[in-house]
Amino acid sequence: MLFDTHAHYDDKRFDDDRDELLASMPENGVGLILNPGCDIETSKKAIEYAEKYSHVYAAVGIHPECIEEIELDSAMSELKTLALSSKRIKAIGEIGLDYYWVKEPELRAKQAELLRRQLALAKELNMPVIIHDRDAHADTLKIVEDFPEVKGVFHCYSGSTEMAKRLISLGYLISFTGVITYKNAKKAVEVVENIPLDKLMIETDSPYMSPEPFRGKRNSSLYVYRMAEAIANIKNIPLDEVINQTTENGKKLFNI
Ligand code: NI
Repeated sequence: MLFDTHAHYDDKRFDDDRDELLASMPENGVGLILNPGCDIETSKKAIEYAEKYSHVYAAVGIHPECIEEIELDSAMSELKTLALSSKRIKAIGEIGLDYYWVKEPELRAKQAELLRRQLALAKELNMPVIIHDRDAHADTLKIVEDFPEVKGVFHCYSGSTEMAKRLISLGYLISFTGVITYKNAKKAVEVVENIPLDKLMIETDSPYMSPEPFRGKRNSSLYVYRMAEAIANIKNIPLDEVINQTTENGKKLFNI
């Protein structure tokens, strides 16, 4: 049974077939899905799907790309209320730093403050976090190091092997999207080679990041097997072992 640990079914690209698709996952080998939120609205959607489907779980969080429209105090109080509203919520996420889309120093500083507050909330509620780190490796690492009690996952991992080892020593898992199926994925392949299987998770980040040979099409959890195949190939181990271990890793992290 596969566990797609990161998929955004709130995206409008699922409006025509969301229910059909989600309902069909267990019979297609995808036994678990975690849907993170990116703001208050999408976090509510994630909870709605998690309440409806026994194989879907939710995370609630505010994504760093939303930083401009956020008022920190009110957003954090809404988020805390939401995080306590359902037993189907298994993490705070996705949260982090995004220096690709956000260039202004004052907005980057606000992202850091939002990340710190959400890590503090995760600590208070004893929940794991789902970290988004795009072009902000050093600063993201520095901030998570200030919260040694908080565990979680670096999703859609794009950092170095050295950073992955540091994160693992802090209690984090490393998760990969379709990027590891791309021909130019040298850096990600090197990380997979050097990180033990019990520290890896797989995800689609649907509807984005479709793996080969579906690149450019809408992604869904139906394609999460491609990441398991890629890891099995890189590590030269049986596919079943990758599927079972990554699912166990996800269940353990998210307390499922
Ligand atoms: Ni995401």
